[in-house]
Amino acid sequence: MSPLIDTQMLIDEAIESLESKVDDTAIIACSGGIDSTVAAVLAHRAVGRLLHCVYVDTGFMRKGETGEVREMFKEMGIDLQVVDASERFFISLEGITDPEQKRKVIGEQFIRVFEEEQANCGAKYLVQGTIAPDWIESGGGERDVIKSHHNVGGLPDDVDLMIVEPLREFYKDEVREIARSLGIKSSERQPFPGPGLAVRVLGDLTRNRVEACREACHIVEIRLQEAAAAGKCDLPWQYFAALLPVRSVGVHGDTRVHGETVVVRAVTSLDGMSAKYSDIPHDVLASISTEITNSLKGQVNRVVYDITHKPPGTIEWE
Ligand code: XMP
Repeated sequence: MSPLIDTQMLIDEAIESLESKVDDTAIIACSGGIDSTVAAVLAHRAVGRLLHCVYVDTGFMRKGETGEVREMFKEMGIDLQVVDASERFFISLEGITDPEQKRKVIGEQFIRVFEEEQANCGAKYLVQGTIAPDWIESGGGERDVIKSHHNVGGLPDDVDLMIVEPLREFYKDEVREIARSLGIKSSERQPFPGPGLAVRVLGDLTRNRVEACREACHIVEIRLQEAAAAGKCDLPWQYFAALLPVRSVGVHGDTRVHGETVVVRAVTSLDGMSAKYSDIPHDVLASISTEITNSLKGQVNRVVYDITHKPPGTIEWE
């Protein structure tokens, strides 16, 4: 979808459609990712101050992310309310390790936070940045449920808001093109799942384990961006780390360590529906491994690289 004229047409149509659907206060969850930001900018253009943008800090965001998103919205002239809901997310996820269960709980908590915000601002509509792969993979078509994306499958039946999804028919590359055309700063940002680091920390979601995953993800992001800038490899479509509840024996100095495992994931893809693992030079992987085990001494003593395509794997580990 390269000709600009098509993108402009899609933008105009989406704004028109939002104008005709939304006649009262609307609330939108803005994570700062491309999908929700594009949805927010379109909705803001359509209904202006009727739109109430909320950023929910679940406690599962990446390093520095909350501040960056706050800044981006400020620059775009859109009010963003930041809600720190991390305590309730951690409490409600205590002891839950099943991936589908996690997603359902997260989806439900999101909606509960919105209901509280709705009560505050009197919203009648909920605008969501759901894109086509979200509902296809959540069982919206004829296929099996692969993962309940938090903004689709996790939605409780008793939700008291009318849902509006301006990007429902679009794929990721199309949304990115629209984001570029709208001048959105995060248009080149890699995708980040709605449930955030919660689906990158396999096993128990303790603050300590989430913090370790946040640090490992940060290292992977920085080192791969540097490697790509130095021409050592292409910047992958998506790249991150996940923390596995697999303990192995290691050694630090003279001390035996029984630590956990970090898996590094980097893939090339067009729209996330299928993906190939990225060919990353060994020296880059080696420096990532050393940095992760040094930063997370005593907690993580093994780093592995995932060489699985999608299919048969998925991009995220949960
Ligand atoms: P998978 O892991 O299913 O991911 O191969 C495909 C793409 O979708 C992202 N992803 C999500 N995005 N909510 C989202 O908004 C979710 O619940 C979710 N789960 C996965 C994933 O990061 C990848 O880009």
